[in-house]
Amino acid sequence: MEKQNTTPSLLDRLKRHAASNSIPMHMPGHKRNSDLLGMDLPYSIDITEIDGFDNLHGASGILKEYMEEIAAYYGTKRSFYLVNGSTCGILAGIRAATKRGGKIAVARNCHKSVYHAIELFGLESIYLMPEMDEAFGIHGGISTASIADTLKTHPDTQLAVLTSPTYEGVVSDIAAIAEICHGHGIPLLVDEAHGSHFNYSDYFPTTATALGADIVIQSLHKTLPSLTMTSLAHLNGDMINPEEMARQLSIFESSSPSYVLMASIDSCFRLLRDESKPLFENYNKRLNEFSGEMKRLEHLKVLCHGKDNPTAHPTFFAFDNGKILISAQGTGLTGQGLAEMLRNEYRIEMEMAYGDHALAMTSVCDTDATMAALAVALVTIDSKLTPRAQAQSPNDGTLIFALPEKQCEIWQALESEKNDCPVEDAIGQTAAEYVWAYPPGIPLLVPGERISDGFIRQVQTLSEKGTQVHSDAGGIPENVRIIGQKHLVQ
Ligand SMILES: Cc1ncc(COP(=O)(O)O)c(C=O)c1O
Repeated sequence: MEKQNTTPSLLDRLKRHAASNSIPMHMPGHKRNSDLLGMDLPYSIDITEIDGFDNLHGASGILKEYMEEIAAYYGTKRSFYLVNGSTCGILAGIRAATKRGGKIAVARNCHKSVYHAIELFGLESIYLMPEMDEAFGIHGGISTASIADTLKTHPDTQLAVLTSPTYEGVVSDIAAIAEICHGHGIPLLVDEAHGSHFNYSDYFPTTATALGADIVIQSLHKTLPSLTMTSLAHLNGDMINPEEMARQLSIFESSSPSYVLMASIDSCFRLLRDESKPLFENYNKRLNEFSGEMKRLEHLKVLCHGKDNPTAHPTFFAFDNGKILISAQGTGLTGQGLAEMLRNEYRIEMEMAYGDHALAMTSVCDTDATMAALAVALVTIDSKLTPRAQAQSPNDGTLIFALPEKQCEIWQALESEKNDCPVEDAIGQTAAEYVWAYPPGIPLLVPGERISDGFIRQVQTLSEKGTQVHSDAGGIPENVRIIGQKHLVQ
């Protein structure tokens, strides 16, 4: 007799989760809010490039019109729908702006897609280290001095890339950085994956599309009401050839772009174009009320909310207060522990937790009730905490705080002979794999970097705090893949 498959289907699991009334303090930004967004998506509208529906790759009909409408509204030279997330926009943008083997200046806290572009196109990376925010032990902004110095030292750089806002909401001075880049005759790519909402409201920092960045990549699905994998790529100025960008997108994006996803992009745009004022006013009001409630916290701290404010963070040029980063530093609770408590006791699902931090993502699709539930949960948890002796420095368990020493390019390390090595024997060796925590997907270690005792301690601390650290070969936290034959794992 044939064995019955008793595993519940993914669809059943998803439906069960949807019915569980768990509160999504994570992406996608639509927050499953069907009261606001309706139930129109998807089977009956899932088609291919049939007559009358244009073709995203080489758009000349309705899709061209939709994208032109976005460009006109956003004030960009050209805007592209993306249905493979910001990842494909980053890959295409970097490829369109650099020559194979060329030099690229990148913020070391970029998302791994930036590193994958460097790897694929054989680029030579020069790293810009973000400033450290000592108060929370997170990355601050990229300073204008660091970009100016880097471009002076490396006048043959072809492109600068940075993330603004960061996952935690930290915004860099894009206007000044763009001016420095342009003064050196090179374009600036801003990964604004977390800042799609900036275009729709003055309550948030100014979008890079209005500040001189040449390529801006935005994930609609992260902070706006749009389905997962929907993003936009924008071009400004004359440094990037739009035809080359379109050609690169046709390489990195599916040849069967989903009409469901494209309809979601268009619906998101229409909703916000027509309703952004009331939606963002309400959103802002909820964030202010939440922030007011956070003043009651005695032990937990919330970045730029409650008793904390941007003046305490001199390395931030601006801050996206839609991000709620909670620090449990000094309470004996880890970020993971806090996220578990919120899930198990309050049905609140956070976006991520690492080290001593847990992060909630908010959007116009949150409601008074969901924001109030988060506030009540945090105040209640806080009231049961007691301060603990600070055994660790504020940076313990953070993601990356010292620029690793680069020994060779990423592609060279990956194409070398490699072996797995116990982490404790790997100090001084050269990495031949990526190591990262996801989210946020910023590599802690990049192939070609020297493995330091600081890296080993960091992985151990993160693991002890329940943060899942991943590596390509899957050996972390015990083993790490290095270049060469030494220290073979038995
Ligand atoms: C800063 C940053 N850039 C790019 C990406 C990739 O975006 P997507 O998931 O839309 O491909 C992410 C994803 O988390 C991200 O955090």
